[in-house]
Amino acid sequence: MRTQIVAGNWKMNKTVSEAYDLAIELVTGLRAVRETEVVLCPPFVSLTTVKSAIANTMLKLGAQNMHDQDKGAFTGEVSPLMLAGLVDYVILGHSERRQHFGEDDAFINRKVRAALRHGLRPILCIGETLAQNERGETEAVLSTQLHAGLAGVTPDEAARVVIAYEPVWAIGTGRAATAADAQDRCAYIRAQLSARFGEVAAAMRIQYGGSVTGANAAEILAQPDVDGALVGGASLKAEEFIAIVRSVKSKL
Ligand code: PGA
Repeated sequence: MRTQIVAGNWKMNKTVSEAYDLAIELVTGLRAVRETEVVLCPPFVSLTTVKSAIANTMLKLGAQNMHDQDKGAFTGEVSPLMLAGLVDYVILGHSERRQHFGEDDAFINRKVRAALRHGLRPILCIGETLAQNERGETEAVLSTQLHAGLAGVTPDEAARVVIAYEPVWAIGTGRAATAADAQDRCAYIRAQLSARFGEVAAAMRIQYGGSVTGANAAEILAQPDVDGALVGGASLKAEEFIAIVRSVKSKL
């Protein structure tokens, strides 16, 4: 069965010392959690600090983005070579990267392949906007972003990829998808993965993201094709994030 995975995307929040304090609170609060994979994704400048805070625990570390090239004249960017050995996971293709920084599927695909080449596990984010949703284009958008994002990826590599289904209209709005809709979309994504990668798809993790809270997590995470959550706002409060992780039930 799939190990459930809950990741906290801290986005552009927390100073280095605040990040350290939050990580320590999470270490304490999540000490008893063994069966769920928990990933903290602080800003780049806090990665080493958070890494030391979670050393010798079950918590894992993730970055929020990276460039696709190993090195070079890309002022302000961070490369997969720099992240290899530092983090386990890297969030790629987040809708905020697509929307505010003009990242397209081709660039995101290069990042996914670079991450895999360097032994990093990509969390590939896909999701439709409100307008696309209202026009009935959700499945077409998910299919396009999924297949373009995973172009050139082998089935063996795909097993190391996590997909995050994040409807853009649900991110930071307090308006999460219903559990039934989250299940429906994640099942659709799994069917697409299955057509592309065969039986590997059954082992791939698909997260839901978008206004997940301690109050709605249990119902969403109980859905058969939802294998965890990518959490933004609620990951900044230790108590709330701990409540989300604790609401994961084994699906064995
Ligand atoms: P949110 O963000 O939980 O604040 O809606 C989710 C995300 O952007 O990953």
